[in-house]
Amino acid sequence: MIRPAHRQEIVLLPQIENAADVRYARVGLQQVIAMPPASVASLEQGRRDGRLWVAVSPLNRVVGFALMKFPGRSAWLDQLSVLGRWQRRGLGAALIDRTATHARELGHDKLYLSTYLGVPWNAPFYERRGFASVPRGEWPWVFRLQFMIENRKGHQPWRRTIMQRRL
Ligand SMILES: CC(C)(COP(=O)(O)OP(=O)(O)OC[C@H]1O[C@@H](n2cnc3c(N)ncnc32)[C@H](O)[C@@H]1OP(=O)(O)O)[C@@H](O)C(=O)NCCC(=O)NCCS
Repeated sequence: MIRPAHRQEIVLLPQIENAADVRYARVGLQQVIAMPPASVASLEQGRRDGRLWVAVSPLNRVVGFALMKFPGRSAWLDQLSVLGRWQRRGLGAALIDRTATHARELGHDKLYLSTYLGVPWNAPFYERRGFASVPRGEWPWVFRLQFMIENRKGHQPWRRTIMQRRL
């Protein structure tokens, strides 16, 4: 089930992000595992703004989350994580859909994100869910800035792309 996050659940989310990211070791992207997760402060702000959703187990335990941001007033899926043992059950897709629905309700016609090319659960996964890469020449300056800020954490920019889904 997907629902808004509760305040007391926020502290769990950085741990969930770190645990979910462990799968990047399989494709030699240890630098992603080493990156700091979303901060409690930014997650709490997201919760207050109504742009943070969690996926929960049948026992109502949080097993994943999605955080949306609005760089340059564009709807941007900033973080998507599902714990390893809860993956491949449709929770990631459901979190994307919930984020997309909310963006559409706010009047957005596209949802954007940045991700790794060629990593099966990144760009190819999003492609199967209606996202397509935005050619670099078409990136507005605010996306270039967002991309730069993200890459400062240690991503290799040539391995990454920005994708959009029409809403
Ligand atoms: C990306 C991520 C959130 C996807 O979460 P998820 O819950 O596994 O996503 P889904 O279950 O919706 O889809 C994953 C796959 O399982 C499949 N699947 C969904 N339900 C299924 C089921 N009941 N049985 C078998 N397979 C299923 C989907 O078809 C999908 O297959 P595909 O990748 O070949 O398209 C998760 O892999 C993750 O946390 N990764 C680490 C962090 C990360 O990479 N985040 C994104 C950064 S841009």
